[in-house]
Amino acid sequence: MTTLILGASGNLGTQLKLAYKGKDVTAWDRTDFDFLDFEMLKKKLLDLSPSLIINAAAYNAVDKCEEDETEAALAWRLNRDLPAVLADYCLERSIPLLHYSTDYVFGGDGRLSNAYTEISKPQPLNVYGQTKLGGEQEIARRALNGLRYYIVRTSKLFGPKGENAHAKASFFDLMLSLTEKQEELKVVDGEISCFTYTPDLATASKLLLEDQSPRGIYHLTNSGPATWYEALSYFFEMAKVKTSIKAIRPDEWPRPAARPNYSVLDNTRRPKLRSWQEALLEYWQSNNK
Ligand SMILES: NC(=O)c1ccc[n+]([C@@H]2O[C@H](COP(=O)([O-])OP(=O)(O)OC[C@H]3O[C@@H](n4cnc5c(N)ncnc54)[C@H](OP(=O)(O)O)[C@@H]3O)[C@@H](O)[C@H]2O)c1
Repeated sequence: MTTLILGASGNLGTQLKLAYKGKDVTAWDRTDFDFLDFEMLKKKLLDLSPSLIINAAAYNAVDKCEEDETEAALAWRLNRDLPAVLADYCLERSIPLLHYSTDYVFGGDGRLSNAYTEISKPQPLNVYGQTKLGGEQEIARRALNGLRYYIVRTSKLFGPKGENAHAKASFFDLMLSLTEKQEELKVVDGEISCFTYTPDLATASKLLLEDQSPRGIYHLTNSGPATWYEALSYFFEMAKVKTSIKAIRPDEWPRPAARPNYSVLDNTRRPKLRSWQEALLEYWQSNNK
C-alpha cells in the first residue's frame, strides 16, 4: 500500500518525495485539488487507501495571518482543521499520521533559557503559532482513542526550492539575491533557534517511521542554535560574499507577528541531526558544483 505525501511540491514536501524515491508513494498538491475541500479529500482518501499519511501542507505566511482576518481563517483551516480530518481518517483506518509543527508554538521570552523539550508547555505568541498548536491539539485528542501519530516540530527550514512554481526561496538564497541590490544588509541578531536543512529533515522523518518509534511529539532540527545574523555571517564567510551585514535588534525590524526570542528545540528522543553549519556547507557546495 502506498505512502501519501500531502503538500508534496512545497519546500519540505519536495525533499520528502526524494527521500521516498523508489518506494510506493502518492504525492498530492494544490495542482491535484484544494485540500480544504474536505469532502473531496475524504473521497480521495477512501479511493487511495494509503498505509501512511505524511502531511507537509501548511499555511506559513506568519505576518499575513496576523493582520488579516481572511488569511487567519485560512490558516486555521489548513493548520488545525486539515490535520483533524487526516487524523480522523488515520484513526479509522489504524494507519500512522506524521504531521509537522513549529518552534513558534513556544513563547521564548527573550532571555537565554533552557531549550524546549518535547514535553515543554506551548505558549504561542502569534496567530500562526496558535493555529499550528491547534493542529497538534486536534491530533493529540484523537491519540486518546489510539491514533498512531507523529508530530514533528522543526524550525527555520532552508534548502532547495520546492517544485511548486511559487515555493518560497530560503533565507540564505533570499539574502544572497539581495546582495545584488544592496551594499549592506540589516539582519536580526536575535530569535535564536535552530536552522534545519530540508533534505536532512526528510531523511530523519523517514527513519523515525521506519524505526517503528513510539508515537508522540518529536523535535527534529539541525544541531546548534543561531540567530539570523550569526547564520548569515557564517554563510557569507563560507561563500566568500563581501557584502557587509549589520546586526540589528528584533525591535529594529518590526513585523506584524511577534516572534519568540528564544525557541531552540531540544531533541531528547531521536539521534541528533548534524550541525547546521555542516548542512549549510553541503547545500552551498551542491549549488556550486
Ligand atoms: N518554513 C519554515 O521555516 C518552517 C518552520 C517551522 C515549521 N515549518 C512547518 O514545516 C512544514 C513544511 O513547511 P514548508 O516550508 O515546506 O511549506 P511550504 O513550502 O509552504 O509547502 C506547503 C505546501 O502546501 C501546499 N498547500 C497549502 N495550502 C494548500 C491547499 N489548500 N491545497 C493544496 N495544497 C496546499 C502549498 O501549495 P501552495 O504553495 O500552492 O499554497 C505548498 O506546496 C509545515 O507544516 C510548516 O508549518 C516550517
